[in-house]
Amino acid sequence: LENGVARTPPMGWNTWNTFACNINETLIRQTADAMVSNGMRDLGYQYVVVDDCWFDPNRDGAGNLQPNLSRFPSGMKALGDYLHARGLKFGIYQVPGARTCAQSVGTYPGSTGSLGHEVQDANQFAAWGVDYLKYDWCSGSGTINDQVASFAKMRDALRATGRPIVYSINSNSFHCCTGPQRSWTDVSNMWRTTEDITNRWDTGNTNGYPMGIKNIIDINVPLAGHAGPGGFTDPDMMVVGRGGMTDTEMRTHFAMWAVMAAPLIAGNDVRSMDAATSTILKNSRLIAVNQDSLGLQGVQVSIDSGRRVLAKRLSNGDVAVALYNPGSGAATMSTTAAAIGKSGSSFTLTDAWTGATSTTSGTISANVPSHGTVVYRVSGGGTGPSPTSSRLVSSSSGR
Ligand code: GLA
Repeated sequence: LENGVARTPPMGWNTWNTFACNINETLIRQTADAMVSNGMRDLGYQYVVVDDCWFDPNRDGAGNLQPNLSRFPSGMKALGDYLHARGLKFGIYQVPGARTCAQSVGTYPGSTGSLGHEVQDANQFAAWGVDYLKYDWCSGSGTINDQVASFAKMRDALRATGRPIVYSINSNSFHCCTGPQRSWTDVSNMWRTTEDITNRWDTGNTNGYPMGIKNIIDINVPLAGHAGPGGFTDPDMMVVGRGGMTDTEMRTHFAMWAVMAAPLIAGNDVRSMDAATSTILKNSRLIAVNQDSLGLQGVQVSIDSGRRVLAKRLSNGDVAVALYNPGSGAATMSTTAAAIGKSGSSFTLTDAWTGATSTTSGTISANVPSHGTVVYRVSGGGTGPSPTSSRLVSSSSGR
């Protein structure tokens, strides 16, 4: 979406994965303070997104949304001010239908969705200083055309406010996930491509709730041609630091989100991170790959027994290469400089996890542990044919 924001994948934090409906303004403020003091903000994590359950179950007499005052006694404008004063940005959650997802499943009362209130709600968000709207299709019915119309209505309402607001949509709550997918770049800045994530490697679900890291990668990799500045595929908020996976799997999760140009929205409790989690989320080499100004999603250059090689062209001519091994044993994985769109006879490889450098005349190779991902930044030589979506495997062979 050409609305001036999200030229690179949005980065930030969201309440849902750890706290679900158990949210309040103290939690948000403590999280914001932690993101400043632990360095996350300065690494680019700027959007603090308050997901479902922030609102009063009833609109006021004029039809305006109201905060849940027992959870947010200072109100939403004050919360936005708190975030802005710390160099952060304010995100909020709403839905196009009658009920939010928590209201739909009955874990939160009321029926306060934006249906019939789109302009009023967009104006309210702008007045509160909202910088990011997550707009979530929670209705169990509707066609894809219904979705396009509903999401476009809020896109237009946000634009009319004149405030730059990142527009994040989820169309997949029931249209998920094995069919062909639409690129929503005409409608939004980022769009969910999968069912909800959970902190497991593999749930076995490719078309249902919830999905593990491997399942999501299988769905999102073939969509590389859909992404670019202003519009990114969203394989869901991260579960790094949520347990349930090995450190190797957590590193794969972050590395693949980085190379897929996915929004990097942390979903753990950032007030209390262990060292491994902190190291992963704050890997500045991978953040630089993710935030590269070309805004390209890494494309698959080969797949062998499920092991994928992805290449992401970067603005200075370097290429980031991911060697992703979902297999049950370690494997030596290889590609070549030519296959990732580099020309020349001497290249430097920088390992994104260790920072170690090595040189090669063309072979790019590593022994990759089971469920691991090695990422190299490849520099030197010239730029040959771009590893673009023409190299994409079809979605049938890619899954
Ligand atoms: C859906 C979304 C989640 C979260 C919940 C809130 O399940 O996919 O990310 O926003 O709704 O109820």
